[in-house]
Amino acid sequence: MKIVKVAIVGAGQVGFSIYKMLKAMEEVKIVGLADINPTAPGILAAVQNDVPISDDFRDLLSIKDLDVIIDATGVPEVHERLHRIKDDEIAVMEAKAANLLMAIFREKEELLEIKRVQGQLSAILDSMQEAIEVADIEGNIKFVNSAFSRITGITEKERIGQNIFEASPDGALATVLKTGNIVFGHRTQVGGSNAEVISNAAPIIVEGAMEGGVVVFQHFTDVMKLMEELKKSTTIIENLTDKLVQVTTSKYTFEDILGSSAEIKNCVDLAEKSARSNSTVLLLGESGTGKDLFAHAIHSSSMRREYPFIKVNCAAIPETLLESEFFGYAKGAFTGAVKSKIGKFELAHGGTIFLDEIGDMNLLLQGKLLRVLQEMEFERVGDTQTIKVDVRVIAATNRKLRDLIRQGKFREDLFYRLNVVEIIVPPLRVRKEDLPALINNLLVKLNRKLGKKVRGISEEAEEVLLNYDWPGNIRELENVIERVMVTTDEEILTKKNFIQHVNQNKIHPDRDIDLMPIDQMEVMLIRKAVAKYGNTVEGKRRASQALNISLATLYNKLKRAGPANIKI
Ligand SMILES: Nc1ncnc2c1ncn2[C@@H]1O[C@H](COP(=O)(O)OP(=O)(O)O)[C@@H](O)[C@H]1O
Ligand SMILES: [Mg+2]
Repeated sequence: MKIVKVAIVGAGQVGFSIYKMLKAMEEVKIVGLADINPTAPGILAAVQNDVPISDDFRDLLSIKDLDVIIDATGVPEVHERLHRIKDDEIAVMEAKAANLLMAIFREKEELLEIKRVQGQLSAILDSMQEAIEVADIEGNIKFVNSAFSRITGITEKERIGQNIFEASPDGALATVLKTGNIVFGHRTQVGGSNAEVISNAAPIIVEGAMEGGVVVFQHFTDVMKLMEELKKSTTIIENLTDKLVQVTTSKYTFEDILGSSAEIKNCVDLAEKSARSNSTVLLLGESGTGKDLFAHAIHSSSMRREYPFIKVNCAAIPETLLESEFFGYAKGAFTGAVKSKIGKFELAHGGTIFLDEIGDMNLLLQGKLLRVLQEMEFERVGDTQTIKVDVRVIAATNRKLRDLIRQGKFREDLFYRLNVVEIIVPPLRVRKEDLPALINNLLVKLNRKLGKKVRGISEEAEEVLLNYDWPGNIRELENVIERVMVTTDEEILTKKNFIQHVNQNKIHPDRDIDLMPIDQMEVMLIRKAVAKYGNTVEGKRRASQALNISLATLYNKLKRAGPANIKI
């Protein structure tokens, strides 16, 4: 490229701006600048840049190989003199002409700049991992980057010029062009390839008008598939955790323990005190007296209430499984142990473990339990690693542990470990004064459960219940009242409602029955059975079973007896 040598006459505002412009041009070398004013801005700049200066423009004419001289003075005499004395090879150009040329040049520069940015941009776009595809408003594909080809296997040449509505009509880009809305996380197969991708797309808006759209997508890889799976599993786990917390947290508090008798009050008192400590509690008492309720309540009002409450029914788990239930097992500990399993003691960490029916635990396990209670550490079955836990123990049984110790069926040392606080939950028959409160509470609960409107029980009925012994305690009371409520629509429950249920449960082999004719006795039994099971076909069928006669016989005997013939 030939370098054009240029000199400028006049270094005022016009000359200086031409000077700056030319200075930036590679093809031009400024070889001199002249102005009579030594402080003209162009002169000052030229001095800084080592461009020769002069106060006499005639000096410029002697510069070797000068090609062009630009007259930026605007003074006609200067112009005229330049033309007169210059060599033929030197062209003289007026500032106006020079500016025009430079405007053209500047445009060329801007174009170059755009090309440079374009180059940079496509280098950036090509270096991206994500595929990019651009289409105009008509859907004509204008651009794809190299990741596009890599992911889809479609070359730039094949793709550009196609129309997106034909090439990928269901893709995100086509959707954006159709709707004008941004699309996120669209999972699709790229038209014309079998690449499964996940894409985001957006419209291209220029000065408020949509001109096209751009889609960015990446392979829906195995990793992403795994991520999706993971997300699903995480949700499941979160749900399960929620459930687990619900299941394992205690449901009852001391407020649920009804009764104002001294017997129950003493018990609650002791239990409340024990709740404040960390001591092991042993709950003794007959079945149905509320031992479970107490265990829950103690946990709920203890410092551990935010932690798990884990109940283990020692009688319900087969002996062979009890150890792994308690302590968990390691993978491969026995045939079928394909995964390790966490035991109840670990589950209860930080909280309370409730060992129900402790009297039914076998001796071997009693020994192991003793160690855990002493050391608060154990090993999983089939593992040597020792696990330490912080667990509060509450145990319960309806068995007479002291008798079992005497018979050698319960370890004495374990008994004393458990028996730090002993709470004997009294049977219902010693606190019958609590019956009315318990019954009222049950009526409310059962009305809700069964959708009934029972308001209370008659005085006579109450007397029947007060006279009963309640061997099954509160659980039995619950059962009796529920059974009565299921079978009646009355608002006040009467003696008649109860008598069959309550007496049924009480067997008095030695009770003196008045003697009566056998056939009358038969009728009485039949009436009683029907009353118990209900005067329906199904009720009569069950009554006949209870009496061990056929349904037909029952009907016959009922017919013979007649409804009002015999009073029972
Ligand atoms: N003091 C009480 N107040 C109200 N309901 C009670 C009371 N004691 C026991 N119950 C209820 O009686 C039923 C049996 O109690 P539970 O604690 O399971 O007895 P246990 O464990 O001693 O066999 C449960 O439904 C319980 O809610
Ligand atoms: Mg229980």
